[in-house]
Amino acid sequence: MNAEEEETLIKAAQAAREYAYAPYSGFSVGSALQARSGRIFTGCNVENASYGLTICAERVALTKAVSEGERDFAALAICAAGAPAPCGACRQVLHEFSPDLSLVLVDPGDGTRKKVDLSTLLPWAFERASLDL
Ligand code: THU
Repeated sequence: MNAEEEETLIKAAQAAREYAYAPYSGFSVGSALQARSGRIFTGCNVENASYGLTICAERVALTKAVSEGERDFAALAICAAGAPAPCGACRQVLHEFSPDLSLVLVDPGDGTRKKVDLSTLLPWAFERASLDL
């Protein structure tokens, strides 16, 4: 992903964050996932009165993409206060499709950016090959 593509992806994640439905936590998250085809899919967190049914922004973007035929991803931008890394569940779900995904974590307030690979965040992942015994 070149610098221009990275800017585009970050802007998409920031825009998606505006749609976050987070009345319980008050913590808004936006994401933008770039498929190897070039297409970008965005997501935001969608909370629920039954708290455990909340869906993270990353999994919204991923499931949108997979449901439209994409299975190979290059990069993911995540935009939230403090530029946090994705939760463990999202790491696992992203790993299913693109273990080598590049992540850029962005704080919408001060603009802080952190870059990290999914493989660093989720070493020794459980995966399809783990089932082949
Ligand atoms: N959240 C995400 O959307 N992505 C993450 O990786 C971590 C947490 C959301 C879930 C919930 O709506 C809020 O942030 C607080 O946990």
